[in-house]
Amino acid sequence: MTSSQAAPRVLLFGNLKGGVGKTTHCVHVAAALGRAGRRCLVWDLDANQGATQHLGIDGDLWQGTTEVLTGEAQPLDVVITSDEDGCELPENVHLIPASRRLERVTLEAGRPVPALPVAALGDRYDTVLLDTAPNLTAPTTAGYRAADAVILTTFPDPLALRALAKALDTLEISSRVGTLPGRLLGVLLGNVPGSRRKGPTGLEGDLLRYLESRLGGRKGEGLLFSTIVSRSIAVPRAQMAGRTLFQTDPKHRVTRQYRQLAAEIEQRLEAS
Ligand SMILES: Nc1ncnc2c1ncn2[C@@H]1O[C@H](COP(=O)(O)OP(=O)(O)OP(=O)(O)O)[C@@H](O)[C@H]1O
Ligand SMILES: [Mg+2]
Repeated sequence: MTSSQAAPRVLLFGNLKGGVGKTTHCVHVAAALGRAGRRCLVWDLDANQGATQHLGIDGDLWQGTTEVLTGEAQPLDVVITSDEDGCELPENVHLIPASRRLERVTLEAGRPVPALPVAALGDRYDTVLLDTAPNLTAPTTAGYRAADAVILTTFPDPLALRALAKALDTLEISSRVGTLPGRLLGVLLGNVPGSRRKGPTGLEGDLLRYLESRLGGRKGEGLLFSTIVSRSIAVPRAQMAGRTLFQTDPKHRVTRQYRQLAAEIEQRLEAS
């Protein structure tokens, strides 16, 4: 990984389908980059507060994304760090939390949504990681407008083909709101069952082969990230504890996969 730079790279985790790993990947990639010395900001754009809760914070008790988008606060004024009482974020990771109040920030017919004001963060961060809602709410649209790179996330479940179609729709929609498909950094497959030796079999194996044929192989030349993240009970356990695996289970197989994924993301960002 290379040294710090002035402007933060803005990395968005997206998919218009719910429950396909956006939040889990966002906070774990942040934790992995943080472990590697990157100064990371997780910015939660979802009123359901996935990333905020995954990092052990009750967003309704803090100012955050809502106040930034309504102009009541500047981004740097609402950043939460581990210095705050009761907050234990991963190393080098800060958070702008979401709250239920974010539902107040709505799209106005006929008026374009301004991009998330990432420039106001100055040079405080190397990477800003946006966790988005599974629909084009005003905050999520603002995120797509600000993103330098988009990672589409998907899971191998029985609705996977539909999920993938939706994911590819996201590309189309994001191009309409100003995020060009050229900013798609890759498609990330997570929550994949299967043994370490054999890898995914059955439906999951079929889906993986479908993704590879549709998006290019996993040797780094296609859209699919070569790292796939395994399914493990350790993930929801960490989530329930309001922590990442880097805090609860640093030697876990999935923790290792996220470390590898973060390096792959860095390589793709540098190449793009
Ligand atoms: N590797 C994994 N192993 C086991 N469970 C996982 C794994 N990754 C994610 N999950 C579980 O899958 C569920 C959905 O994940 P997540 O919340 O990250 O998706 P999402 O796309 O952010 O959902 P939403 O659209 O509702 O915000 C969560 O309950 C999470 O614990
Ligand atoms: Mg989420």
